[in-house]
Amino acid sequence: MLPSYYEFHNPVKIMSGHKALDNLPSELEMLGAKCPMVITDKGVAGAGLVKIFTQSFDSSGMTIGAIFDDVPPDSSSEVVEKITAIFRKNGCDSLIALGGGSVIDTAKGVNILVTENSDDLLQFSGAEMLKKKMKPLVVIPTTSGTGSEVTVVAVISDIKRNLKMAFSSTRLLPDIALLDPRMTLTLPPKMTAATAMDAMSHAVESFINLQKNPMSDAYALAAIEMIRKNVINAVSDGNDAKVRLAMANASTMAGIAFSNSMVGVVHSLGHAAGGICHIPHGVAMNIFLPFGLEYNMSKCRDNIGRLLLPMAGADVYARTPESRRAEQMIHYLRELRKALNDLCGLPINLKQAGVTEDKLPQIAKAAINDPSIIMNPREMDENDALEILKKAFA
Ligand SMILES: [Fe+2]
Repeated sequence: MLPSYYEFHNPVKIMSGHKALDNLPSELEMLGAKCPMVITDKGVAGAGLVKIFTQSFDSSGMTIGAIFDDVPPDSSSEVVEKITAIFRKNGCDSLIALGGGSVIDTAKGVNILVTENSDDLLQFSGAEMLKKKMKPLVVIPTTSGTGSEVTVVAVISDIKRNLKMAFSSTRLLPDIALLDPRMTLTLPPKMTAATAMDAMSHAVESFINLQKNPMSDAYALAAIEMIRKNVINAVSDGNDAKVRLAMANASTMAGIAFSNSMVGVVHSLGHAAGGICHIPHGVAMNIFLPFGLEYNMSKCRDNIGRLLLPMAGADVYARTPESRRAEQMIHYLRELRKALNDLCGLPINLKQAGVTEDKLPQIAKAAINDPSIIMNPREMDENDALEILKKAFA
């Protein structure tokens, strides 16, 4: 059934291919950029990815204005301010984020300060606080999971004021998301699996929440099928560029899906567990996903059942009676988690992830106050959250 009203917005140009990077200099020129600044982290640089990246500029005649390769795992306003100063000093006019979620959020933060000609991020936090057209921003993900290359949000810590600033604006959408498999070939198996399950959770939660729409549904279904077909190969043979490119595409599609609908209880629990027990986000998504679906079953059984098709394929879908498809979808999801656990040790419960039982009430309390819960099909109170957490514990 169509929603009575919905909006869908994705102006990000996708450049995807085995040598997509080689086309970047000419694309930057078309955006009016002459002196881009590259933002990345030590891990990306250490894996040799910055070198591959700069080689694609060698014969282009375009110079890279500056490279900052020290973004920490949690983006902070101090780092954003430091990079902004380098951007200004070198006369840069555009930004290239080469990395995972923290690098991408940092680049979005820098873009706010250089566009607004300001040194205080806090005044721009909140929803739609950005009025000016931003500088050109290219995002090159080095993980396949967050979807940040196509989302309107950024989260940056303000350490001095001890708060997390959240920014949400269509102006934060990058101009280009560039998917080149050379940028994800070196991602270790466990990280590959965890980030893939983050993408899976984006697609699944976007398909069942209250703000779903036909456009986000299309991206979600395509993403789930592509992840199912490629994730095991990506984890067992990281050097397969074809598989890596498929995972990058799936992650971006899942990002477009949830950026135009919402997520739900799986993310609210994951954010809470991440904040309190420092479980990596993708690990938390893998743990909570089947339990979140079971919790929502009474409110959206049909939608969960429809996900059996991309999750298990046409044969399984056709031979499963309609009344059993939702349960089977969760069964196949659990099979996938088990396979990933066997392959690389990706935790399937909180105990395996190092959480102690005494932390569960605190996680439950934080989860019900997380904004991700707003569009979840079923309301959740603290007791409900605690029940899910107990099931997911061991
Ligand atoms: Fe996520």
